[in-house]
Amino acid sequence: MKVCIITFGCQMNRLDSDLVSDLLRASGYAVVADRELADVVLYNTCSVREHAEQKVYSRLGRDAQLKDKPAIGVIGCMAQRLGDKLLKRCPAVDLVCAPGRLYMLPELIENVSAGGDVLALDPLRTESLDSDSEKRLEQIDMLRSASGVSRQAFLRVMRGCDKFCSYCIVPFVRGPERSRDPKHILEEAGRLIDAGRDCLTLVGQTVNSYRFAETGFGDLVRQVAGIEGLRRLDFVTSYPVDFGSDILEAMRDLPNVCTYIHCPVQSGSDRILRSMNRGYTRSEYDAFIDMAYEIMPDVAIASDFIVGFPGETEEDHEASIDLIRRSGFKNCFIFKYSPREGTQAAKKLADDVPEEIKRERNNQLLEIQREEGFAHHRKRIGRSFEVLVEGRSPRFDKQQEPPSSESTQMMGRTMGNHIVLFNGPENLAGRFAKVRIAGANDLALLGELTG
Ligand code: SAH
Ligand code: SF4
Ligand code: F3S
Repeated sequence: MKVCIITFGCQMNRLDSDLVSDLLRASGYAVVADRELADVVLYNTCSVREHAEQKVYSRLGRDAQLKDKPAIGVIGCMAQRLGDKLLKRCPAVDLVCAPGRLYMLPELIENVSAGGDVLALDPLRTESLDSDSEKRLEQIDMLRSASGVSRQAFLRVMRGCDKFCSYCIVPFVRGPERSRDPKHILEEAGRLIDAGRDCLTLVGQTVNSYRFAETGFGDLVRQVAGIEGLRRLDFVTSYPVDFGSDILEAMRDLPNVCTYIHCPVQSGSDRILRSMNRGYTRSEYDAFIDMAYEIMPDVAIASDFIVGFPGETEEDHEASIDLIRRSGFKNCFIFKYSPREGTQAAKKLADDVPEEIKRERNNQLLEIQREEGFAHHRKRIGRSFEVLVEGRSPRFDKQQEPPSSESTQMMGRTMGNHIVLFNGPENLAGRFAKVRIAGANDLALLGELTG
């Protein structure tokens, strides 16, 4: 049987899809990228905004019309959020499996034709975790196949989230925060590196909140970075007030740790931050930014904002603009507030900012970040960087020399996660190259290959 996994959502889901692929292969399935070739289609889903769920519903609607597959499954965050409603409401859906029950997938797929149980959900936040499931879940990470097509690999350091930001569904669908045993993380990292996956990204919803007994996140970074053969180490996503100077010092001192931090702020206004239950003030976030640049003047920082949160006034919005202006971000992701059923914000606060204003504020923050992003990238002109070449660049930048017959426009990344476009041979993909930066735009550096 052939399975196709279609992934939506964050890095956590991309990692889970890789692990599920390994698990299914070990159980005798083939994993294919093309839906047409598959017998079983699994959607690994995201619930973070209404729009993320709509994308899945539209696929499921089409599947219901086509009726061309023996089994269609919904796994991941929507599975946990909606449970058996998916089986009842969507005629295409044959199985539903929550993020903490992914180890049951081979059994669930068999059950579709055999007529057994096709619904596997995690305990609710009010119930306790069961240690048997936790062990079996951990096994999926531990038994993953280390080999892969890319040098880059995700590596989980924690599951779940306990921050309960008032707008956010993640703590409900991913369960309580639990950090993995550093022994397991180091063993997994070692196996990946031995298999040539020598650029690792540690993932967690609030990755820097990691703590297992005496080991904090700064210690973990030092331990993983110390593994022989590791070329690059980075991590996502960071939570502002858990960012101690020890982590920044580790980033500064260790040559293979990337100088990139993705640390969402969500709003520049204290009033909104309080209502979002973010657990920090504007001046605390400003202090984090200042400390980061002080310890690592060259660091690249990215952030997220939500516009149109309930009660957001023009003054609150101005505070977000002001924060972008002072922070020197490399890039920002801007989202329009989307109420999520069951969260505190959806229960207690009316979604009172009109869609049109949300759109305006969204565009305005994007425009200001474009200017700031251009300034950030421009500062790097004239310098040389080692880039990890990912492949051909998907879009040709017209500011550059057109490629010739031996070269094409390639795309790579610096240690600061800057996108670098340069002309070079296609066989550089997956290798490191030296590039001198000659130009820039708001999202990328434009360079020339020097070695
Ligand atoms: N764990 C990460 C982010 C997880 S969700 C962190 O805490 O930083 C990714 C981003 O989606 C968030 O940073 C936030 O900007 C956005 N987001 C989350 N819930 C949202 C909602 N209900 N409406 C709009 N955007 C939301
Ligand atoms: Fe959601 Fe907040 Fe947890 Fe991030 S820290 S996943 S925004 S609850
Ligand atoms: Fe979405 Fe779940 Fe990630 S809700 S953002 S896929 S943890």
